[in-house]
Amino acid sequence: MAETALLYFERERKAALDLAHLAKLSPKLIARHDFPDGEMKLRLHANLSHRAVLFHTLDHPNEKLIELLFAAKTARRLGAHHLTLVSPYLAYMRQDIAFEAGEAISQRIIGDLIASLFDAVITVDPHLHRTSNLKEAIPVEQALVLSAAPLLGGLAAKQRPNPFLIGPDEESAQWVAQAALSNRLDYAVAHKIRRGDKSVEITLPLINVKDRHVVILDDIASSGNTLARAAERLYAAGAITVDVAVTHALFNGDAIEIITQAGIQEIWSTDCIAHPSNVVSVLPDIAQALSSLI
Ligand code: R5P
Repeated sequence: MAETALLYFERERKAALDLAHLAKLSPKLIARHDFPDGEMKLRLHANLSHRAVLFHTLDHPNEKLIELLFAAKTARRLGAHHLTLVSPYLAYMRQDIAFEAGEAISQRIIGDLIASLFDAVITVDPHLHRTSNLKEAIPVEQALVLSAAPLLGGLAAKQRPNPFLIGPDEESAQWVAQAALSNRLDYAVAHKIRRGDKSVEITLPLINVKDRHVVILDDIASSGNTLARAAERLYAAGAITVDVAVTHALFNGDAIEIITQAGIQEIWSTDCIAHPSNVVSVLPDIAQALSSLI
């Protein structure tokens, strides 16, 4: 019987090949051609195994979702009867309700699209806030959620003596609690008010971080403003050092500069999205999750 294929795109080559090795899958590159008018053509390995896995992490979502659609439909046509999506970062999970009348509920739309293409989904720390589980967001047969929070908490504990973990907003409570409890660390959750894409206000809870090493732990860093504003508050409250640990290193635009200007020292992230700050790998956990499906 043919080995299960791991389909991947060139820009995710390194992570895909590492995962293929760990999960004993047969890596198959998806070739992409870009036409002058902006359209693209994909080409997959012509004979696919009965079961196949597509590796695609969804930073740069608008482009990658088209790749996902074309690749999944083509994989089915080429013989993949059971198709698993491994997407360490799932985009469009934050817009889970219409905050104002007429808004698209992106989570539901993208969730339905992914569920129509795949039999199973594996992801890491999806931004589920008002949605209680991944299957609610993506109504697929098997939906597996892994968390990098315990690994990030463990890393913080190795890097700083007795670090205090802070979640910058209520949504981060789920991750910071896991990170702290699994590593026996102190933790607290701050309050955030978002005024705009790059404007947030952070209020710390009643905690004593004087002379403590503090690590801000969150699922996503995008513009960097959440981390920067939280760091400013923590230094004002007497923290000796403030570092950050995030699962999804989007770091868009001048995020790193904004974070550095706020005095943040170290930036640690997982390889859910390739970034120079990656220091923790989620691939062994994904390989294990795959073995429970395949
Ligand atoms: C949202 O609640 C997420 O957990 C992050 O806190 C948010 O996406 C970070 O965005 P930014 O880096 O743009 O402040």
